[in-house]
Amino acid sequence: MHAITIPEPGGPEALVWDEVPDPEPGEGEVLVEVAASAVNRADLLQRQGFYDPPPGASPYPGLECSGRIAAIGSGVSGWSIGDEVCALLSGGGYAEKVAVPAGQLLPVPSGLDLNRAAALPEVVCTVWSNVFMIAHLRPGETLLVHGGSSGIGTMAIQLAKAIGARVAVTAGTEEKLRRCAELGADILINYREQDFVEEVRKATDGKGADVILDNMGAKYLDRNVRVLAVNGRLAIIGMQGGVKGELNIGALLAKRAAISATSLRARPLEEKTAIVAAVREHVWPLVAGGRVVPVVDQEIPMHDAATAHRVLEDSGHVGKVLLVVP
Ligand SMILES: NC(=O)c1ccc[n+]([C@@H]2O[C@H](COP(=O)([O-])OP(=O)(O)OC[C@H]3O[C@@H](n4cnc5c(N)ncnc54)[C@H](OP(=O)(O)O)[C@@H]3O)[C@@H](O)[C@H]2O)c1
Repeated sequence: MHAITIPEPGGPEALVWDEVPDPEPGEGEVLVEVAASAVNRADLLQRQGFYDPPPGASPYPGLECSGRIAAIGSGVSGWSIGDEVCALLSGGGYAEKVAVPAGQLLPVPSGLDLNRAAALPEVVCTVWSNVFMIAHLRPGETLLVHGGSSGIGTMAIQLAKAIGARVAVTAGTEEKLRRCAELGADILINYREQDFVEEVRKATDGKGADVILDNMGAKYLDRNVRVLAVNGRLAIIGMQGGVKGELNIGALLAKRAAISATSLRARPLEEKTAIVAAVREHVWPLVAGGRVVPVVDQEIPMHDAATAHRVLEDSGHVGKVLLVVP
């Protein structure tokens, strides 16, 4: 088969569409013939040599895919050859075939295009596990999503609105904020021109955000703690603004607030399986009913993954960039 390999870490040109051995499905795994994968910010770090795959994972990039089951390993039940699926991966999505633990598979919701289904697993599992399983966002609460037009952000807005929460977003341009509003965002903040602490307080009668989904890490730590409501929950999932920040524990304590930080890729198989099962139960009906949709910026042939990485680096996109097997 073909896969995107990284012979030497570097810029987008480091991604090489090469011939490699087919993967074999192990016990508890299925082999998926890939229709499409999608680009995640973590893939850019892996390409640059800053984010090695976890032990046992495929060396090729790609944290999600859609496709058809081509073979089934021992000990797998409930799936058949030919089933249309999408999957959460620990790597290996940028390839024509990938071996996947059966617990990380999801059926393609009826009516959804097979390629577009590749835009769902990573963002849905990340948002569901952080915003709902860890931070327990409830109806009527306010969620602040940093990077509202990102792949993650476009899903967070939709899921929070679907359960009846109020959503504030930050983004760097008016056009991106307009797209967030179309997805249901209520409070729009241009982080280049406005102070999100001030804007969220203004829009919530001084109360602040009950839950924050944060992609910035250190750079926003102090302001995130300041804008949290009493009993607020800050869920950190990205470090685009650095890894080391100063935390005002007094402010956190006075608000009885909590901070969590997780990386989906590094979580053990049992935890990923539990997250995928929760997504199937709670999110899949919303997708099947058209209440929640994958937001796809563009589809690019997989062999040209370099172009797709440049799109993410330029950050002109809204939602997900797909890599489609020709
Ligand atoms: N921990 C996990 O398990 C996990 C899983 C998946 C993703 N993530 C993280 O989630 C984040 C989004 O991932 P993605 O794949 O959806 O990436 P993406 O589409 O490339 O989004 C990156 C976003 O960052 C925004 N951004 C840049 N500077 C900002 C600032 N100062 N304030 C607010 N937003 C800013 C960009 O907005 P503008 O273009 O408007 O500047 C863009 O929307 C990344 O940090 C990624 O590492 C974590």
